[in-house]
Amino acid sequence: MCSVYLVLLLAGICGVAAKGALHTASIGSNSGGRILTPQNNYNGWVNPEDLAPMPQCIAQQDQSAWLNTMTKCTSKQCTSYFGVICTHHQWLTQLSCLNTGFSSDVIKGYLSYCSRSILAKAQLYMWVRNMTGRTWLVDIGDANGLEDLSPASLDEGYVAVNSTYNAPKCLTGSISALLMEPFQHVMASCSFTSTTQHTGNTARPWEYSESLHSIIALDFETVGYNLTHHNISYGDYFDKECFCSAFTIDPRKEPCLEPGQLDLTRERLWMNATCGPKSLPRNWTDMLKTTEFAYIPIEDWHWPTCVIDMPKQVIELTGQCATDACELDASGYCKVKRAVDRACFCRNISYDACGGSCQVFEARIDYVKWLHDLCGSVQDWHGLPDNWHQLAGPTPLDMIPWRWTIKPSNKSTENFPSDAWKLGSFASVNIPPILAALISRTVVKHQIEGISLWHPHPGRWVFAGILIATLRLLANWFNAFLVQNTLGYKDVPVVQLMFLWCTMPGLAWLPIVLISVQPFEAMHLSAVASSLIAEMVLQCLSAYYMVLTVNYGWAHNFYFGEHSLYFGVSESVEKGRSAQIMYAGALLWLLIIILGFVQLMWAHRMNREAGSWSLDLPTSQRSKWITSNTIGELISQWHIHCTRLGERLTRPWIDKGRAEETPLRSTGQGNHTVYGTLFIKSQNNRSSGELSAEIYAVTAMSMPLLWIAQWLFWGGFIGLSSEVFCPPMLGVLTAVWIALSFAGVIVGAALGRPPASM
Ligand SMILES: *[C@@H]1O[C@H](CO)[C@@H](O)[C@H](O)[C@H]1NC(C)=O
Ligand SMILES: *[C@@H]1O[C@H](CO)[C@@H](O)[C@H](O)[C@H]1NC(C)=O
Ligand SMILES: *[C@@H]1O[C@H](CO)[C@@H](O)[C@H](O)[C@H]1NC(C)=O
Ligand SMILES: *[C@@H]1O[C@H](CO)[C@@H](O)[C@H](O)[C@H]1NC(C)=O
Ligand SMILES: *[C@@H]1O[C@H](CO)[C@@H](O)[C@H](O)[C@H]1NC(C)=O
Ligand SMILES: *[C@@H]1O[C@H](CO)[C@@H](O)[C@H](O)[C@H]1NC(C)=O
Ligand SMILES: *[C@@H]1O[C@H](CO)[C@@H](O)[C@H](O)[C@H]1NC(C)=O
Ligand SMILES: *[C@@H]1O[C@H](CO)[C@@H](O)[C@H](O)[C@H]1NC(C)=O
Ligand SMILES: *[C@@H]1O[C@H](CO)[C@@H](O)[C@H](O)[C@H]1NC(C)=O
Ligand SMILES: *[C@@H]1O[C@H](CO)[C@@H](O)[C@H](O)[C@H]1NC(C)=O
Repeated sequence: MCSVYLVLLLAGICGVAAKGALHTASIGSNSGGRILTPQNNYNGWVNPEDLAPMPQCIAQQDQSAWLNTMTKCTSKQCTSYFGVICTHHQWLTQLSCLNTGFSSDVIKGYLSYCSRSILAKAQLYMWVRNMTGRTWLVDIGDANGLEDLSPASLDEGYVAVNSTYNAPKCLTGSISALLMEPFQHVMASCSFTSTTQHTGNTARPWEYSESLHSIIALDFETVGYNLTHHNISYGDYFDKECFCSAFTIDPRKEPCLEPGQLDLTRERLWMNATCGPKSLPRNWTDMLKTTEFAYIPIEDWHWPTCVIDMPKQVIELTGQCATDACELDASGYCKVKRAVDRACFCRNISYDACGGSCQVFEARIDYVKWLHDLCGSVQDWHGLPDNWHQLAGPTPLDMIPWRWTIKPSNKSTENFPSDAWKLGSFASVNIPPILAALISRTVVKHQIEGISLWHPHPGRWVFAGILIATLRLLANWFNAFLVQNTLGYKDVPVVQLMFLWCTMPGLAWLPIVLISVQPFEAMHLSAVASSLIAEMVLQCLSAYYMVLTVNYGWAHNFYFGEHSLYFGVSESVEKGRSAQIMYAGALLWLLIIILGFVQLMWAHRMNREAGSWSLDLPTSQRSKWITSNTIGELISQWHIHCTRLGERLTRPWIDKGRAEETPLRSTGQGNHTVYGTLFIKSQNNRSSGELSAEIYAVTAMSMPLLWIAQWLFWGGFIGLSSEVFCPPMLGVLTAVWIALSFAGVIVGAALGRPPASM
């Protein structure tokens, strides 16, 4: 390829003479069958075609002085005599004439061009030495080192000529500012091939043209890299040092200086890759259209996850801002790519441009991060709100597991009632127990008057319990209703708020626990059982929100994973602490419930198995069986403990079944040898009795723990949902709440006392 290119170049420079040469060359190569005459030296005269071919750098210049010198040494000589008669004339060149002809003066005219490239200079030197035997060109010593070149002689290295395909036309068609020489010309002067190539008639490099009265060159030799005694892969190359010193760019008149055009970037990148940044204006990187930062290749473009909610104008921006840009290849050249102009895109997008899911939690986090990655470093871009750091993590709103909020819909009414209703609701949650106590008191009073004190029907407790729960629900509803009717809170959903309040911690468990450590009394039993049932109903109702919270926390990785509140992230998250507490509370609640069930299942199993043996086995063996099961040792201890506790309260229930047959036993006795009597009397009823004791015990044990879990849940939730997390306010709330709760308990206890003592 390059050979042709060099020939063409040669044709361009040398005009007619070269054309003639090429013409003859092609004729010469056509007559391939010609017998080559061996080199004959006729007394210092040789056939011109036996002379070494013209070096590349001479072929690329005006060769007239060169050809003249050779012509002067060439004359028609007789090469064959018949006696004294000459039978054959030939144009021959006299070597000694060449020796003197190619003096320093002749070489001087060619040297500046030929010495641009050290390889070309070496080639010229070889030729001159071959012709004249001189070991210097113009001045003694100017050829030092040319005979033993090495790859290191090319200081800056070399590049394949085809790299010019990466340069824009405006550059390859431009003129060197320094030498006023065309780009291609400079390139030709510095180029070389992997090994010496011939361009033209290899067998006949020179010829005397009688019509032109001059020696003409039919061939020239390209400069070969193997002058350095090393091989490189086949191809055309150019010497960087040679090119960069000869071809320069005027910083004020860059060849491709057309604003908005990719060619300027291509030109600068090519020059930088070839000649380094020194060849360019100082701030040349300012206007580059590269995919480094300012432009994003279309194939690398990605949208955030909420792309479906992005308005059409935003989606279309990529098309409107698409343009060509340069991607740097491994050598630093420009590879034209379709790309999105970052600045153009960012100019027209801001956080508010996309609503819908783009503003909700994970999608929002992704969106904010995407936006920040995309435009954060763009100058003068302020598309993200000031608090974007918070938006890039879970916000308090995201951490509330349900989508409705207790926020005023009208901003101007904010703050005013928000604290008031909280206080009110806390207080009113504890009013129902008091009411319930009052009501059950009346009910029980009627019972006392009518039926026997010792046989309160369990159905009544259930009824009373459900009544208490219903009352609390009603109170919740009333509260929610009040909130909804507060100015600005129209959007608050009453039913959901009502159920949410079921998760509020109440002190109903306190009497249960207190009573279980006191001597048993039927009145207490009634109050306790109904409280227990009410509490169970309320806990069942709160399950919805608790499970919802745990599930939401799990699904959104609040427990473990990228948004984990417990492993390092919470510091950066607004109200992370509150959320931590809230989610821990919900999880704790769930765990307690699960553990409670597990314990009940265990108890149930124990009951079945132990029950079937109990007729024959004494208690000591029973407990041995339990303890021999090593896994359950601790649990069984706990089980026995709980059962004893529960037994005290449920005994009347159990005893009721056998009231006719057995006298009432002392209630102060907590010895489970009692079972012995029970087993004998009625095994089935004993089992169910023990089971209900177990249920009672587990429930009573779980209540305080559930209460703590609910406290955590609510403490966290209030912190999370209040506009400003305000500990003093929470403190006041707590104090009021505790006071009211205790009031409830005290009233309840007072009412629960046996009527005889009232
Ligand atoms: C010049 O080159 C020719 C072959 O091209 C060779 O025969 C000749 O010996 C060389 N002369 C000198 C002085 O190196
Ligand atoms: C230049 O040639 C080399 C091999 O000689 C090749 O690997 C490279 O892709 C070519 N570059 C261009 C731009 O054609
Ligand atoms: C370079 O290669 C050419 C062609 O293969 C060969 O004629 C010439 O002698 C080589 N030159 C050197 C210095 O090895
Ligand atoms: C160059 O390549 C030729 C064969 O292509 C091989 O004979 C020669 O030894 C190589 N020279 C160097 C210096 O590798
Ligand atoms: C310019 O070239 C130098 C090495 O010559 C390179 O380190 C730098 O990355 C190039 N700059 C660009 C923008 O390509
Ligand atoms: C940077 O280039 C611009 C033209 O592109 C020129 O006006 C400005 O003076 C240059 N600045 C420096 C510091 O060279
Ligand atoms: C980008 O916004 C500017 C105004 O900020 C406007 O002139 C231009 O038309 C917009 N471009 C697109 C593609 O929307
Ligand atoms: C918000 O409340 C103010 C008075 O506090 C009232 O003037 C305004 O109309 C309300 N806005 C809405 C949307 O209800
Ligand atoms: C419980 O029963 C054991 C025998 O099983 C007996 O030694 C113990 O005194 C009893 N305790 C009470 C409080 O009755
Ligand atoms: C269990 O108690 C009930 C009364 O509560 C009684 O009717 C029933 O017969 C008892 N079962 C057995 C197996 O004694």
